[in-house]
Amino acid sequence: MGEARAVEQGRPLGLAVLGAGRIGQVHAAAAAALPDIELRWVQDAVPAAAERVAAANGARAAGTLEEVLADDGVDAVVVGTPTPTHLEFIERVVETGRRVLCEKPLHLDLAAVDAAARRLGPAAARVMVGFNRRFDPDFAELRRRMGGAEAGEIGRIEQVVITSRDPAPPPQEYLAVSGSIFRDMTIHDFDMARNLVGEIASVSASGGALFDVGARAVGDLDTAMTTLTSASGVQVLIVNSRHSASGYDQRIEVFGQDGTLRVENHRTSRVRLDTAAGTDQGAVWEEFFLTRYEAAYRAELQSFVTAAREGLPFSPGFDDGRQALALAVAAQRSLEEGRVVTVNEVDTAAEVDAPSELDAAGPTPLTREAHV
Ligand SMILES: NC(=O)c1ccc[n+]([C@@H]2O[C@H](COP(=O)([O-])OP(=O)(O)OC[C@H]3O[C@@H](n4cnc5c(N)ncnc54)[C@H](O)[C@@H]3O)[C@@H](O)[C@H]2O)c1
Repeated sequence: MGEARAVEQGRPLGLAVLGAGRIGQVHAAAAAALPDIELRWVQDAVPAAAERVAAANGARAAGTLEEVLADDGVDAVVVGTPTPTHLEFIERVVETGRRVLCEKPLHLDLAAVDAAARRLGPAAARVMVGFNRRFDPDFAELRRRMGGAEAGEIGRIEQVVITSRDPAPPPQEYLAVSGSIFRDMTIHDFDMARNLVGEIASVSASGGALFDVGARAVGDLDTAMTTLTSASGVQVLIVNSRHSASGYDQRIEVFGQDGTLRVENHRTSRVRLDTAAGTDQGAVWEEFFLTRYEAAYRAELQSFVTAAREGLPFSPGFDDGRQALALAVAAQRSLEEGRVVTVNEVDTAAEVDAPSELDAAGPTPLTREAHV
C-alpha cells in the first residue's frame, strides 16, 4: 500500500459516496450539509440512482469507482454499498492513499476481514467503520458521564442493558443475504457494548423466530437476547427484536455502584399535557434509524472529516469493525452449540484462516434453546 494522501488544508475535503441506497442517501445529504465537505461524486451500479442522489445533493454521478478515483479532488470515500462489496472497495480506495468511511458490517466472514487486515497492514488505519450510534448525542453523553480511567458519576460499572428493536422485519430477500440477526443488527449493539465496557471475554446467546415467516424461512431469528461478559467482569444484556408495535426502540441503561445512567427513546414531540383527567405525552417514538440517528450520522461524518484532515486516528476504526464481527460470530456459535463461547475461541479459528463458517454452514440453523 502506498503512502496516505496528505489532505490539502484551506479547502473543503473532497468526498465521494459509493452506493445511493438507504444509507448512501443519508451520507450524501449529511455531506452536502457540512461546510467542511465538498461532495464531488455519488456512485452506484444503477446509474439512475446515482444521478438522482447526486442531483439532490449538488454532486456529479459516477458509474464506476475508477471514475471516482481518477478525480484528484477526491480525498476520501464513503462506502455505503451492500456488505459483500465492502472489503474490495476499502482496498481499492486505500491503495490510492485515500481514507474510507465504510458502513457496518465490514464483511460477514471474520476470516475474510482478517485476510484483508493482513493485506492492508498499517494502511488499515485509513479506515473508519460506520458505527453511527457512538455519535448519537445522548449515547455519547452517557458514555462521557460513565467516566474513563477515573470512575464517573455512577462509580464502578456493574451491568448494562442495551435494548434495540426495529419497527418491522425487513423483507425475506434481505434476510437471506444479511448473514443473521447477529451480524446484521446486533453488530451495532456489540460495538456499543465494547464502547461502553471495553473488551468482551465471552458471549452467550439465545433466540427464536417467534413472529416473522421470512426469518423462519431463511433459518434466521427475529428475537434474540445476548449476554456478554467483559474482560473486567461487567455484564451486558442485549435485547433485540425485529418488530416493535410502538416504534423504533433504542434504549441504554448503565447500572453502577452509585446509580444508573439511562437514555430513553426519542419521541416525535417533547411536549406533554397534564390536566385533571390525566397526564399524556401523546407522541410516538421515532419511526426508524433515518430520523432517530440523523444527528449521529452527521456527527459521524464530521468526526471522519476532522480526523482525516488532522491526521488523527479514526474511531471506531477497522479493528473495532473486526471485533464487533467476532462477537457476532461468537453469538452465532453460542446459539448453535447451546453454550457460552469465549471470544478467544473465535479469534483462534479466524487466525488459522478456517473455511468461512457462512460457506460451510449455509443458512443459519434455527435453535430455540435458551441457556442464558
Ligand atoms: N449504519 C447504519 O445505520 C446502516 C443503516 C442501513 C444500512 N447500513 C449498511 O449500509 C450498507 C448498504 O445498505 P442499504 O440499506 O443502504 O442498502 P440499499 O440496498 O438500500 O442500497 C445499496 C445501493 O448500492 C448499490 N450497489 C449495489 N452493488 C453495487 C456495486 N457493486 N457498486 C456500486 N453500487 C452498488 C445498489 O444499486 C443500491 O443503490 C449495508 O452494508 C448495510 O449493512 C448501515
